[in-house]
Amino acid sequence: MSAVERVTASLNTYRALPKVELHRHLEGSLRLDTMLDIATQHGITIPADVLRLSTLVQIQEEDKLTFQNFLSKFNTLRLFYRSPDVIHRITREAIEDAAKDNVKYMELRFTPVALSRAERFPLHDVIDWVISSAKEASEKHGVIVRLIASVNRHESAELAEQVAWLAADHVKDGLVALDLAGNEADFPSQPFYGIFKEAKQAGLHVTIHAGEWGPAYNVSEAIEEIGAERIGHGVRVMEDESIVKLARERQTAFEVCITSNYQSGIFESLETHPLTQMLDAGLNVTINTDDPSISRITLSHEYYTACEDLKMPQTILKQRIVAAAKASFIEETEKEKLVKQLEKDLKL
Ligand code: ADE
Ligand code: ZN
Repeated sequence: MSAVERVTASLNTYRALPKVELHRHLEGSLRLDTMLDIATQHGITIPADVLRLSTLVQIQEEDKLTFQNFLSKFNTLRLFYRSPDVIHRITREAIEDAAKDNVKYMELRFTPVALSRAERFPLHDVIDWVISSAKEASEKHGVIVRLIASVNRHESAELAEQVAWLAADHVKDGLVALDLAGNEADFPSQPFYGIFKEAKQAGLHVTIHAGEWGPAYNVSEAIEEIGAERIGHGVRVMEDESIVKLARERQTAFEVCITSNYQSGIFESLETHPLTQMLDAGLNVTINTDDPSISRITLSHEYYTACEDLKMPQTILKQRIVAAAKASFIEETEKEKLVKQLEKDLKL
């Protein structure tokens, strides 16, 4: 077997696994072909060939691996949200792509403010469009989907508050949580404390991007001040033992996204990613994609990277898939069924 054949054969074993995705952004999941289609239909002036478009919306080998460069891809992506049809289409396709990768349960997060910006769509319409397409695609492709509304810390707290209230009205439609995302290095989460507290009281779950581009302290702040049940990334928690202890005691789930962490410049190489140290420290780690289109990956690739590059044993991977289901924001009765089905299929 050649080296390429070995990688392919190995990747296929990860493709075959039933998967759970807790951290995937809709805006980071657009197909390149779809972007070209939308550009043609709506007269958007972007490079008309796939390779040149790719440089604007996906990480390239020659790119500087910084979070600023990573976030800059979303600026181009915001040009595409030109019609309700576009928003319906990208939502359906994101779920179809997950189904093809054997994802059984996915929490897809979306940023209403980003989707509404280009055409000034009302936030409530954007939320309705994503909910209805997610429901349709979930049934068609047999993936259980729950939605998370994201707000960015580098954008207005007033808009975030509007999103939180609208989201709270749609918990029964499967919009189950609120997420704080965006530029963690330069923008504090303090202006959002009250919004998240009220969102939680209104029945939404809470997950916070923290300890990704900001220090370990942000993880404890997310848990203790904002009421985060889960942490987006949180990999820099390893810089402070007392915060590792706090997260271990609470069994706070970490939504780790290995490739995204490397591409956004947190670690110098994939091999220096602290995934296995986090596991050894007893943290409740899950494995996710973040932005599969920007990073040019699938969840299968992330499972491959965790086991083949970072040497996480496959039995641990299977346990982490079940751990992700247990940490999910699905309703308790559905969660029990999901966990049982995964344990059976993974032979645990
Ligand atoms: N939005 C999309 N991807 C993100 C990330 N990795 N961190 C913060 N905000 C994001
Ligand atoms: Zn993210």
